Amino acid sequence: MGTQGHSPGNFKQFFDEHVAVHALLEQIDEAFRRPSSTMEEISGLLGQLGDRLVYHFAFEEEGGYFAEALLHSPQLIAKANALLDQHPKMRTRAQQLKADLQREETSNEQWKMRTAALFYAFRDELLHHEREENILLQEAYHRDMGIND
Ligand SMILES: [Fe+2]
Ligand SMILES: [Fe+2]
Repeated sequence: MGTQGHSPGNFKQFFDEHVAVHALLEQIDEAFRRPSSTMEEISGLLGQLGDRLVYHFAFEEEGGYFAEALLHSPQLIAKANALLDQHPKMRTRAQQLKADLQREETSNEQWKMRTAALFYAFRDELLHHEREENILLQEAYHRDMGIND
């Protein structure tokens, strides 16, 4: 008693969000690796990533990663706040990546190489963040399901 349960469906929404971001990152990776891909195609995908992340971060911030479930565990709250604090910096980096696309290069190859370097650096940071969030959400979910007092 004393706890309002959350529907597992809400947690599912968090996990689904992560799967969607992951799928988009894979799609972009595939485009960079494919010699036939064009600047337009990659620019379009990176634009989609920027838009998706604006939504993604806002979604997580609004839910506070299930603040209620986290309340049962102070160390999870500290961890959650530290992760949410990483959002502004990543939002800025995603915007920079998008802004950088406007600059013209002499060749498709040059453009791809430079943009790929920016993308992969950003992807590594983002994937690390997402992995940490998955661990946090799994812990919160298990606690939430296991609480009967
Ligand atoms: Fe996040
Ligand atoms: Fe996330």
